[in-house]
Amino acid sequence: MTQARSYKGTSMYLLVVMIILTVAIYTAKELNVLDKVRGPVDSEEKTEFEKKLVNEPTSGVSNPETRTQVDDDADQDDDDDKSEKEEKKDDVQEGQEEKEIKDEVKNEVEVSEPVDCKKFDHGDFSSLEGVDSMFNCGSESGQCNWFYPAKFFHECGLGSKYMPHIAEMKRQYDAQELWLSGPPIVLPNCNIVPERMRKNPYKPDQDWTRHNLSMTHVHKTGGTSLVTAFSQCLNYGGKGKRRTLYMPGRKTLELSPAQQKIREERIAKGEKVLTGPRKSVIYGKNYEEGIEFLNEATKYKRPEEWGDTDHTLFGVVRDPAERFISAIGQATGAFGSTSNGIGKQLLDECLKETSKETLNCFINLMHTNSTWIEVHFTPMAMEVAFATAYQDIPVAIFPFTQVPNLLAELGANPNGKKKDGHSSNYRKSPILTNMSVDDYDDDMLKRLCEIYEMDAVFLNQMRMETRCDKFLPKI
Ligand SMILES: *[C@@H]1O[C@H](CO)[C@@H](O)[C@H](O)[C@H]1NC(C)=O
Ligand SMILES: *[C@@H]1O[C@H](CO)[C@@H](O)[C@H](O)[C@H]1NC(C)=O
Ligand SMILES: *[C@@H]1O[C@H](CO)[C@@H](O)[C@H](O)[C@H]1NC(C)=O
Repeated sequence: MTQARSYKGTSMYLLVVMIILTVAIYTAKELNVLDKVRGPVDSEEKTEFEKKLVNEPTSGVSNPETRTQVDDDADQDDDDDKSEKEEKKDDVQEGQEEKEIKDEVKNEVEVSEPVDCKKFDHGDFSSLEGVDSMFNCGSESGQCNWFYPAKFFHECGLGSKYMPHIAEMKRQYDAQELWLSGPPIVLPNCNIVPERMRKNPYKPDQDWTRHNLSMTHVHKTGGTSLVTAFSQCLNYGGKGKRRTLYMPGRKTLELSPAQQKIREERIAKGEKVLTGPRKSVIYGKNYEEGIEFLNEATKYKRPEEWGDTDHTLFGVVRDPAERFISAIGQATGAFGSTSNGIGKQLLDECLKETSKETLNCFINLMHTNSTWIEVHFTPMAMEVAFATAYQDIPVAIFPFTQVPNLLAELGANPNGKKKDGHSSNYRKSPILTNMSVDDYDDDMLKRLCEIYEMDAVFLNQMRMETRCDKFLPKI
């Protein structure tokens, strides 16, 4: 009798324990899921830019929330990219209903808990084992480091302090005023299948590597040569194209003499010509397509692992003090920027007797008029954030010294410089041609580094040193 009772007691006890355990597991799971949903995109105040992303009917793939959700669903088969892609497709078809549910989950998250930056994931910086490639960032052969622009500018990221600059960039974009009269922001890519390629003359001893590459153009870091090199890659048999992510509007119709001549010829023939000031095209077809493409960017893969839409996106950076000098040469009207609508004014205001005084004037100009006056002055971290459309994706960041190797990798002449600031007649004045980092004194450098602090932080995260490091606030 006592024994029977004790059996009954034990089984009751076990039942209670099991119920408690089940509840605990479910709660833990729920919390875990919610944790993941609260990604970098869930900042409280949404700009027009972000609203657009959420409301866009065709943006199933690009919608950041959708992405997070897909990642959660794909948890069990993290290694299997294919299934993730398929789920992504399903997701698009399910459409609106899915989205509403997600919005609910999201709202719940926003009230439930503040962001805990201690748990913040700064990104996966690891490398592939046993893959010998300059694109295998963080490995012995890799010449790059992984950068996650959306994580960098997240409120828990290393660049959180600079979030207001990103907000300003989005505001100017939404107002169709960003970088008016500047060059288009492009995204070239090339998919290399060695069997289909003609021989690479710049890597005669080696065959092409099977991989899919794309690039985010950071201005004044060898980008133009590299964009051109992508066309070479396509000429040798690679597959890809050059997407235009953003085409800035025009301040006024300022034309170089050559453009003026073409214009007159067209008018004479009764053909259509460009007219007056023009606003930027925003959230257009190019943008949508660009976002879809960007969302497929992955870390580097083994040759046999490249999926149908995978590509590794790379970018090049250099010391901010060095880049600033190159930017001055460009913004004042060097080849490629003759009609930026501000070059002449910059020269009138800042071209002085010596290179040093001229440089000093431009540093002052960054303080009084900001880096927004011309696209080439934009800090590199912000250019990468813009040109990746704020998507949470990895970017392989190379130092400037790797440009020749990157060119060779794409089948272009490693010694061919598209724009050489120090060749005479390239920049608008010998004072500019002659300008070098030696023209900075300590005070000038300090003032410049105040403007480009975020780039120093960015490059440090990439394990690169800069001339600004000594001015960085001590942590
Ligand atoms: C990437 O490479 C693979 C294999 O070389 C190819 O089948 C695939 O189409 C490429 N991706 C893209 C986006 O074209
Ligand atoms: C800089 O700002 C001043 C004062 O607002 C203005 O007069 C000047 O034209 C600006 N210069 C440039 C190059 O934008
Ligand atoms: C260029 O720099 C050199 C040495 O720094 C100097 O001797 C020369 O006068 C400079 N030329 C101009 C045009 O400033």
